[in-house]
Amino acid sequence: MTALKFRNNDEMPILGLGTFRSEPNEVYDAVLSAIKIGYRHIDCAAAYGNEKEVGNAIGEAIKQRLVTREDLWVTSKLWNASHGEENVIPALNTTLKDLQLDYLDLYLIHWPVALRKGTEMPEKACDFIPLSEVPLTNTWKGMEATLEQGRVKHIGVSNFNENHLKEIMTTAVHRPEMNQVEMHPFLQQKELKAICAHYDMHLTAYAPLGSLVDDNSSLRLLENDTIKTIAEARHMSPAQVALAYTIQRGIAVIPKSTNEARLLQNLETLNHMLTEEDMALLKGLDKGHRFIDGKFWEVENGPYTAEKIWNT
Ligand code: A2P
Repeated sequence: MTALKFRNNDEMPILGLGTFRSEPNEVYDAVLSAIKIGYRHIDCAAAYGNEKEVGNAIGEAIKQRLVTREDLWVTSKLWNASHGEENVIPALNTTLKDLQLDYLDLYLIHWPVALRKGTEMPEKACDFIPLSEVPLTNTWKGMEATLEQGRVKHIGVSNFNENHLKEIMTTAVHRPEMNQVEMHPFLQQKELKAICAHYDMHLTAYAPLGSLVDDNSSLRLLENDTIKTIAEARHMSPAQVALAYTIQRGIAVIPKSTNEARLLQNLETLNHMLTEEDMALLKGLDKGHRFIDGKFWEVENGPYTAEKIWNT
């Protein structure tokens, strides 16, 4: 499988380039190299603080005639400080300007967490707005407006649990088509996958390589013995095994790299195929472990907890 098909037959390349934690000075080279070697899907977000540099690289790739705009799939995300119907179009305008694009292929609500205008990362309870004051259904109306204005081809969400999805569905005219969440062999999200299938939504896996290196070595995804044994047997790298597992479950992956060799290695995952036996062994690695635990949304007397974000 090399693409996920949307309801209108648009196709999103199943492997894209992640840009979270790509430093602004590195991301330009990473995006341009990625496009040169064949990446056609770039995953961005206003919150990553590097959309201008990503936009410069995309602009340069188009200028060099490596690709046309239509060849690329570009995703971005609405930051938490722009929840609320009236704030979505202005936020999209900034993202489009930074990326030097006149449309996005996919626009996602980044988190089911609302922050006061201008807040980058919250420190105290008053930096937050409870969802009771700015309901997700209201923000979704703004997302639908971006679609109706033709500035965005598809809309979706990120870090949403079953209840967040259900809430949006109560009033949605255009249903979300994507939920982007953390997924890898240690966090397989089986229930959420079934729910998204029920709603005819695709999933994209962020941190598909286990992202941050955990201090506890038993939690280092790419050093896991099962992954390493399969990698050796199939002449793949551990990263390729992790990516192939998620891809073969029908889920898009957006591994981040700013290193040319690893960019290529990740893309070449598409030339490999795991066997049913490999898939069964990898299925056994699920331990519900989050590398991005959401605890950064917890402040004293604040309205959000990680537990509530993931589970209620
Ligand atoms: P780098 O940018 O130096 O390549 P995730 O996408 O799960 O968040 O993981 C990103 C992390 O994994 C980054 O630290 C990235 O570092 C590293 N990485 C990306 N591709 C590979 C690879 N093929 N093998 C090992 N590490 C990788």
